[in-house]
Amino acid sequence: MKIVQITDLHVADEGVGTNGVDVRQNFQAVLKTTRSLAPDLIVLTGDLCYDVGEERTYRWIRSHLDFLKIPYTAIGGNHDSSSMLAKAFHIDHLLVGNELFYRRELEGWNVLFLETSVGELSEKQLLWLEIELSKIGRDAVIFMHHPPIISGVPFMDNKHALRNMAEVQAVLFNFPHHLSIFCGHYHVEKVVCQRNLTVHITPSVFFQIDWHAEGFKVDHHRIGLREINLRNDGVVESTVIYQQGHKK
Ligand SMILES: [Fe+2]
Repeated sequence: MKIVQITDLHVADEGVGTNGVDVRQNFQAVLKTTRSLAPDLIVLTGDLCYDVGEERTYRWIRSHLDFLKIPYTAIGGNHDSSSMLAKAFHIDHLLVGNELFYRRELEGWNVLFLETSVGELSEKQLLWLEIELSKIGRDAVIFMHHPPIISGVPFMDNKHALRNMAEVQAVLFNFPHHLSIFCGHYHVEKVVCQRNLTVHITPSVFFQIDWHAEGFKVDHHRIGLREINLRNDGVVESTVIYQQGHKK
């Protein structure tokens, strides 16, 4: 099962200033790379919109995805409206109130898609997560926007980390098997391991953050996506592929 993860697109309306970055062209560029990789599924892990959720932006993104004729799915980030996103992507039957979280079985792999658009997991979702994990008797995969571990990126860890991390970790650490977790949000490439969790943070399609800096500092404007292979022998492998970003 080959998946391409694309995250933190931050697509804006035409004419909106995006720090000199052509976010629309960046997204189209990573889609071109995605097409050449011929994945079985594309997963967008949040921050599809530049600042706040906009229906026309979701529709624009969807029209470009539809053109590829590759199955795709999405979850929201802190710059999204999950309900708007779900409606635009025709997955609104998966909404639980305004929250978009769901589980899918992909070629024998249990894959959970979590909702953190308000910066935390609701109590309702945490309970659901606990129940779903209890039904899975082997290694599993999670896609979520926010990394569930403090990741050594001071600006993001101190100002923008998942708020109820301790409660989320309690549920994840309690799972007796391994969890491969694929996130975005931090605009860096990083792998963080703790106990049964391997957290892969995938770079943004907008710009990357200097992971040593205490304050906000751009590292570079190359953009990335992640290729993930969920193998039949139980191995999860993943690679980040970078390409040149586009300026306006
Ligand atoms: Fe984010």
